[in-house]
Amino acid sequence: MPSTSVEPCTFALFGALGDLALRKLFPALYQLDRAQLLHDDTRILALAREAGTPEQHLANIEEHLRLYVAKAQVEEEPLRRFLARLSYVHVDFMKAEDYAQLAERVGASEQLIAYFATPAAVYGGICENLAKVGLADRIRVVLEKPIGHDLASSRRVNDAVAQYFPENRIYRIDHYLGKETVQNLIALRFANSLFETQWNQNYISHVEITVAEEVGIEGRWGYFDQAGQLRDMIQNHLLQLLCLIAMDPPAELSADSIRDEKVKVLKALAPISGEGLATQVVRGQYIAGYSRGKAVPGYLEEENSNTQSDTETFVALRADIRNWRWAGVPFYLRTGKRMPQKLSQIVIHFKEPQHYIFAPEQRLQISNKLIIRLQPDEGISLRVMTKDQGLDKGMQLRSGPLQLNFSDTYRSARIPDAYERLLLEVMQGNQNLFVRKDEIEYAWKWCDQLIAGWKKSGDAPKPYAAGSWGPMSSIALITRDGRSWYGDI
Ligand code: BG6
Repeated sequence: MPSTSVEPCTFALFGALGDLALRKLFPALYQLDRAQLLHDDTRILALAREAGTPEQHLANIEEHLRLYVAKAQVEEEPLRRFLARLSYVHVDFMKAEDYAQLAERVGASEQLIAYFATPAAVYGGICENLAKVGLADRIRVVLEKPIGHDLASSRRVNDAVAQYFPENRIYRIDHYLGKETVQNLIALRFANSLFETQWNQNYISHVEITVAEEVGIEGRWGYFDQAGQLRDMIQNHLLQLLCLIAMDPPAELSADSIRDEKVKVLKALAPISGEGLATQVVRGQYIAGYSRGKAVPGYLEEENSNTQSDTETFVALRADIRNWRWAGVPFYLRTGKRMPQKLSQIVIHFKEPQHYIFAPEQRLQISNKLIIRLQPDEGISLRVMTKDQGLDKGMQLRSGPLQLNFSDTYRSARIPDAYERLLLEVMQGNQNLFVRKDEIEYAWKWCDQLIAGWKKSGDAPKPYAAGSWGPMSSIALITRDGRSWYGDI
C-alpha cells in the first residue's frame, strides 16, 4: 500500500485530449486529488496539439470528467481544486521549439512526470525534445502500451527512450498490475503459508486464466486490426498474470526482485510450434450474434472494418513452463472480445488427494479450486469438499466455497481504478507495478514465435458467434487433456 506522503510534482500529460486521457487518466488524477493524495503544489499540464483555445480544451476535459467519474463521486469542492491545478499547453510533440514553454513552467528543482498517452512511434522524439530543453535529468517517464508490435519494434522504442533516461526512471504501464486483486496475488501467495507450501506440481494439476470482454471493438477497429488479441491482451495482461501466479518468491518486495522472478518465468515458457500450434493454440474471430439479448454485428461488419481481415479477436492456448515448480502443469489462457460477460479470473486447480477413501463415483468431483476473481466482484473463493447435509446423504461429498468478497469484507473502501494506483506509485517513485524492458522483450519473443507460426500456416481464425465463449476448438483444447473451462455455461 502506498503511504500518503507524496512529493509535489508537475505532471505533464502528452496526448491529453485522447481517449485514454479523457476516459481514464484525468478521472484517476481527480480521484487522487479527492482522496487528498496529491500534494498541494502539484500541477497538471494537459499537452496536446489540437486546434482550439485552452479554455475550450479545459472545458472538454471537465465535461469528460463529469461523464466518466461516478456521479456520487463528482464533488464540487474537490473538482474545483482539481481544475485549478490544470492548464492546457499547445505542443507539437515533434517540434523542439514548442518545448521551451514547457521548461518555463517547471520549477528549477521540481520533479517532472511525463506521461506519454501517445502512439509509441513518437516516444523517442518526445524524449529527445525534453532532453534538449534540459529537463531530462529530473523526469520520470511513463510509457503506455503497446510498446511496439513485435520484439524488434519494441526494442527500437525502448532503445530510443533509453538514450535519454535510465531504466529506473522509466515506468511502463500494464494497467492490470494496478488492479487491486492482481496486487493481492502477491499477498495471497507469499503471506499465506497454506498456499505457498502447495504452490507447485506436487499439488496443482493445472491453472486457468480467463480474461473475457463482453464488448466488441467499440470504434477502435483500425487500431485493433493491426494488433489482434494476442498482441493486445496476451503479450501483456495475461502473461503478467501468468508470471505473478508462476514466479518463485522474490527475495524481497523490491521492484527488481519481483521483476527478476517474472523474467525467469517468461524465459521458461516453452515455445509452441509445429504440431503444437494446431493442438495447443486456437485463434478465433467473432461473427454476428447476440449480446445481452440484442443482435450485434460480426468483427468484419463493424464500423470502418475491412471485410477481408483475418485478425483474431479471441485466443485460447495451453502454455507450459519448463522448470521444477511447474513441470507437467499446463496453464490454459483464454481471452476474447464479444464473449458472454466481462470476466477476469484465475482458477488454480489442485490435485485430488493421493489416498482416496470415498465412493468411486464421486472421485471426479474431488479437487480443491482456488478462484481469484479480478473483475467484476473482486474476491477470492476456495472450493473445499465437505459432507453433504442430511440423514439420507451418508458420506456424500459436496463442493462448497470459502469466500472472501472484497467489497463486502472491506465495506468502507471503494475499489480504486487501476490507473489511480499506478499514477500514485509513479508520483512516489515506486516501480513495483511497472514492467521492466526485459519483461516486455521476453514476452514479445514468445508471442512472436506464435505469430510467425500462424503466418506460416496461413490458417484463418475460427469463427465464433458474438456472445459465446469462443470457437468450439477452444473447448476441445482443454477437453483433450481431460479437463474443462471452469464455470462455463
Ligand atoms: C487494454 C486493451 O489494454 O485492456 C483493450 O487494449 C481491452 O482492448 C482493455 O479492452 C481491457 O481492460 P479492462 O481493465 O477493462 O479489463
